[in-house]
Amino acid sequence: MERNEFAILTTDKSSRPNKIGRKKLSEREKKSFNDAKRLLPGGALGGNALAEKSKFVFSHGKGSRFWDTSNNEYIDYVLGSGTFFLGHSHPSIEKAIKDQIGHGAHFFAYLNELALDLAQRLEKIIPCAEKMRFTTSGSDATFHAIRLARAFKKRERIVKFEGAYHGGHDYVQMSTTPKNPLNFPNGSPDTSGIPRAVRELALICPYNDPSALEDLFKNYSGEIAAVIIEPIQRIIYPHDNFLQNVRDLCTKYGVLMILDEVVTGFRLGLGGAQEFFSIKPDLATYAKILGGGLPVGLVAGRADIMDQANPSNKGQPDYVYQNGTLQGHMLGCAAGIATLDVLEEDSRLYEKTFLMAEKLKEGLRKIFFDEGLNVLVFGEGPMWHMLFTETEPSNWRELLLADAKKMSLFEAELLHQGIFVLPGNRRFISIKHSEDDLEATFEATNRACKAIKKM
Ligand SMILES: Cc1ncc(COP(=O)(O)O)c(C=O)c1O
Repeated sequence: MERNEFAILTTDKSSRPNKIGRKKLSEREKKSFNDAKRLLPGGALGGNALAEKSKFVFSHGKGSRFWDTSNNEYIDYVLGSGTFFLGHSHPSIEKAIKDQIGHGAHFFAYLNELALDLAQRLEKIIPCAEKMRFTTSGSDATFHAIRLARAFKKRERIVKFEGAYHGGHDYVQMSTTPKNPLNFPNGSPDTSGIPRAVRELALICPYNDPSALEDLFKNYSGEIAAVIIEPIQRIIYPHDNFLQNVRDLCTKYGVLMILDEVVTGFRLGLGGAQEFFSIKPDLATYAKILGGGLPVGLVAGRADIMDQANPSNKGQPDYVYQNGTLQGHMLGCAAGIATLDVLEEDSRLYEKTFLMAEKLKEGLRKIFFDEGLNVLVFGEGPMWHMLFTETEPSNWRELLLADAKKMSLFEAELLHQGIFVLPGNRRFISIKHSEDDLEATFEATNRACKAIKKM
């Protein structure tokens, strides 16, 4: 690669003071660590605790940045695991939530106008959405989509791709991050506690390999209800036509296609991956951006499949139970409508955001090149990734070949310098990330490069 290929010129500014980064540790934050250790398993709220050396307690966020309780400032490329495409504390979302407070929050999944307003907006945006049901998370959505598919096809097996994540429930916690992958289609559970009978129902397939999928369809003929697939699998991009190949094979063999748009929905464009890749699944699942930061998920798709969840059929053998106390939550729906308003307001919003991501990737490539570090920077739309490797992986096993140890040292250093990235995973930018954020990111990355070269 020639140096002059890069549009952004970043000079070494490692001697300049940078206001972002982990610089101080308050008594308040230390106390929180001790309280967390006592009260929470592993001192963590969930499965993604930060490493001991780089952990901190979040205080508040605004736009592309957040602060910890020691008042250190960070640039956020995690964005609530991709929830805050509009940035933290977006004024339109805050207003929508404030306007609804005082008028009730939910009525146990009975009809309300806000949920219906949101559904009508989604009907126009989501290509496959003939009918839909709100859920309260992405996991909830994939769980119900799989149940609907199994009931519809009267079959029990599902195909899941190795390395894909579809949530925390037993149906999909298989071969999400297998360190020692088994022979296909055997999957390894990502958690203890999944009954063997459930584990055996997940057939694991390599991503980007349509012939492996077709073999599964032939070998398990009449047994597979659905294929569940991420249109972009974490940081692995579909080869040209792969998604269409999956669609065509599903149609040919009479298997349902569930497109998990929890990450891509409203991010690759208003119509998500369905619009971006021109693909129409039988069912699709959503969460994250949809609820504007509040717990809203969605299953949408073919009316004949969704209609199995008609409550007036309760007690009938073909009835599918799909319910949740908080479904159609009015604060969440208000935030969802406000999100769509912002996304629809400016016709160039996606274009501008994608351009910012391109500039970020270009600048990072230049830094790694100048520093002589073998880092691949890639990604589509508002997503970007980096790996210590030379070629972009096309499946989970290729991803395992990248240097994960170097990556985690580098990420710890980035975090220390004030750049918050989800370890080993995808990174997002929001509509609020600015040229200033990029410049500060380049400075911090420069420093992180120098630090890890000394290690
Ligand atoms: C593709 C995909 N599906 C499902 C989920 C589960 O969503 P949630 O964490 O809202 O349960 C996630 C979460 O990151 C996801 O990325």
